[in-house]
Amino acid sequence: MKIKYLLGMRLLFLMVLFFVFSYAHKGLKPPILKDKTSETTSRTLAYQAINQQYVQNIKQIFQKVCFDCHSNKTNYPWYHKLPGLKQFIERDIREGKKHLNLSNDFPFKSHATPQEDLDAIEKVILDNSMPPWRYKILHWNSKLTEAEKKEILKWIHSSLSAILKICAAM
Ligand code: HEC
Repeated sequence: MKIKYLLGMRLLFLMVLFFVFSYAHKGLKPPILKDKTSETTSRTLAYQAINQQYVQNIKQIFQKVCFDCHSNKTNYPWYHKLPGLKQFIERDIREGKKHLNLSNDFPFKSHATPQEDLDAIEKVILDNSMPPWRYKILHWNSKLTEAEKKEILKWIHSSLSAILKICAAM
């Protein structure tokens, strides 16, 4: 009698456990998945909006001053063929593209996240370190004008705040 009772209790306990687990499983999993999907969706939408601004206002500036080293569309200068210069130029392009490749628009190809890329671009614009001085010496028109810098920084700031908004909402 006692054994039967104990077995019954155990069975009941197992059933409750099973119910709780399967409910928890069913009840919890979908919302987590849903949040992930909606985060991915809002991220994709935000990146598309950022890219639209980029293509409209920023890309032509970067094409003029950054693409030679940060894209697959390098315009090699005539002195590229000169011995000694060739390896310097090619190293710049190799290194430049490794850090940041602008070929396929935003989000850019790099080792970092899109947000980190924007931070890095902001930094090089603010400290005037890009394009590198050796490039500026040889390309007279390659300096960013103050108006161009302002335009780039404006795009970076609005893009960063759009990305931060998604992070805050999740
Ligand atoms: C002459 C080639 C050359 C040009 C032109 C050039 N870069 Fe670079 N860039 C490099 C190289 C090489 C590196 C990696 C090594 C370094 O930081 O100097 C780099 C690195 C960077 C980085 C990464 C810095 C970091 O801290 O990770 C950013 C961002 C960047 N460049 C942005 C730009 C932008 C924006 C322009 C145009 C306004 C530009 N670059 C023009 C060669 C170039």
